[in-house]
Amino acid sequence: MTHAVPITRLEPSEWPALAAFIHRHNRVGGRIRCLHFDQGETLALHAQELAALQPDEAAFWCVYGTDGIAALIGCELDPALRRAWLRGPLTAGDDDAHLTRPLLERLETELDTLTTFDAFPAQDDEPLNAFYRDAGYRPMGVHRVLQAALAPLADTPLPASHGSVRRATPADLAPLLAVHQALFPSSYLKDSDFERALSAEDRCVLVTNDLAGYLHAKDDPEQDEVYIDYVGVAERARGQGLGHALLTAALAWGRTRGRRQASLTVREDRAAALRLYELAGFRQVSAGAHWRKEVNPTEAPAVPG
Ligand SMILES: CC(C)(COP(=O)(O)OP(=O)(O)OC[C@H]1O[C@@H](n2cnc3c(N)ncnc32)[C@H](O)[C@@H]1OP(=O)(O)O)[C@@H](O)C(=O)NCCC(=O)NCCS
Repeated sequence: MTHAVPITRLEPSEWPALAAFIHRHNRVGGRIRCLHFDQGETLALHAQELAALQPDEAAFWCVYGTDGIAALIGCELDPALRRAWLRGPLTAGDDDAHLTRPLLERLETELDTLTTFDAFPAQDDEPLNAFYRDAGYRPMGVHRVLQAALAPLADTPLPASHGSVRRATPADLAPLLAVHQALFPSSYLKDSDFERALSAEDRCVLVTNDLAGYLHAKDDPEQDEVYIDYVGVAERARGQGLGHALLTAALAWGRTRGRRQASLTVREDRAAALRLYELAGFRQVSAGAHWRKEVNPTEAPAVPG
């Protein structure tokens, strides 16, 4: 029987105040520990991100020590997908390491309607990777975070059109979703998200004219970047430059938004996608190991990939 640790679940109003702890402990010596806790280098970015989280899409627990927070864990969650994306755990010092396991167990117990827990510690953070392995999580492969600098608009005139690519309209939604669902069955973007994105000023949904390929990107002014969530081309239409055309158009959109950079995350085993991104000027800035735990998998279909 383990010694009971006093764990506090934090109210949404308390989340922005976590920024100082995260800012101090998620980047150690310039290295990121947990990719999902990383909202950029400044305290202000962390606070903004935490303040923008909706009460039903995140949760945080901590253990208080004599000098404030000693250990923290959190997650973003999607009750409909029954899925959580873990953040942390982070501790104030090495002496607090024994607090992390009770925090994880508390999170998993309180979120008992969820079936899939995903964690993304930095690939080179050995203690955090060992933590998830020892807690019974399965390794799911490595995700790379890539970034490309966007040339200022004034220096690089926008092409009038991107050939085979255009902005998606409501009439494109059904074929677009068919390609998306076939390629990414466990996507965190739901059909309704795509539908809303078509008319959202800060989203970019592109399709190829033959509707074999699509791309979804969002503007993130806080990080001064556009983030490319999904790009896919149906197998039958690959190798003809459609992926490249979609990406080029998304980067042009980022420049029209005045953003400094574009970023994305890609699984290490997606060789075609990695080549495509490198060709478009993307370079790796960090890498995360994906760990997953599934509970009660018989009650809901397991999430692939
Ligand atoms: C990654 C993906 C979107 C690439 O789409 P694509 O349309 O095949 O990409 P492109 O055609 O632009 O480029 C692919 C290859 O075709 C070549 N190519 C580009 N234009 C070409 C043309 N006009 N004629 C012939 N070949 C061409 C490219 O040089 C590239 O060659 P390479 O394989 O040697 O690197 C597609 O493979 C895909 O959907 N994969 C599954 C989903 C996925 O992994 N998405 C990314 C998740 S992060």
